Amino acid sequence: MAESPQLIVALDTPELDEALALADRLLPEINYFKLGLSLFCAAGPQAITEFKHLGAKVFLDLKLHDIPAQVAGACRVIGAYGVDMVTVHTLGGVEMMRAAKQGLTDGAKEASLEIPVAVGVTVLTSLGAQDLRDLGIKEPSKEETRITGQVSWLVSKLAVLAEGAGLDGVVSSAREIRTIKSEIQEVTDREFSIVTPGIRPLGSSADDQKRITTPERAVRDGANYLVVGRPITSADKPKEAALKILEEMSKAIPG
Ligand code: C5P
Repeated sequence: MAESPQLIVALDTPELDEALALADRLLPEINYFKLGLSLFCAAGPQAITEFKHLGAKVFLDLKLHDIPAQVAGACRVIGAYGVDMVTVHTLGGVEMMRAAKQGLTDGAKEASLEIPVAVGVTVLTSLGAQDLRDLGIKEPSKEETRITGQVSWLVSKLAVLAEGAGLDGVVSSAREIRTIKSEIQEVTDREFSIVTPGIRPLGSSADDQKRITTPERAVRDGANYLVVGRPITSADKPKEAALKILEEMSKAIPG
């Protein structure tokens, strides 16, 4: 049976001490944290070591995108860090995604560790239909696809490529979850995870996110991992805010 959806808290700060202090307040109920580019650039692999010492799970969100040999090399190093999830850009192409998965597998095996979950970033939520047109990406005709919306179409197409390249899932806004799930079901019945940011509990601020959804709705639509930052990290009582989100998520889980 598929695992219950998990909450991942995005620690978007370059200050390792600050990130660790926040994690310490959220553990043990919340034990999965997303470390991004700013923290990794500031603190490097030591950040991962420190989080692992806390007994936490680490989602290393570096969105790798380079030629296959470079990404394979980076992933081999990352595979030996002991992280639990890693992102690469699907726009790097199938060969690059395959190389990423192979690198993670080799690195983890060499270090006798579990292979991290490898997820593909599809279309950044900062890009809209006009940005895609500016990039020269043509809108498909009705004969070419049954998916409405250029972004949804491209996201689904990239998700299917990611699955074919052996990735374990994709990052997607809540708006695309259902379309991706149905497109993936057409090609495989293997587990393929959806990692969803842009989550806002009822009554909280949208901040700069445009396409938001509630925790309950995201889980109902099929998200496997919910990535939440500011509604928890900027709350007066972060633990209380996180527990409320877990409660909202559980409303969507049958039984
Ligand atoms: O604070 P907030 O909940 O908006 O943070 C969401 C997190 O998810 C941030 O770390 C952001 O970079 C990340 N993210 C996103 N949209 C994407 C991919 C990642 O908001 N498409």
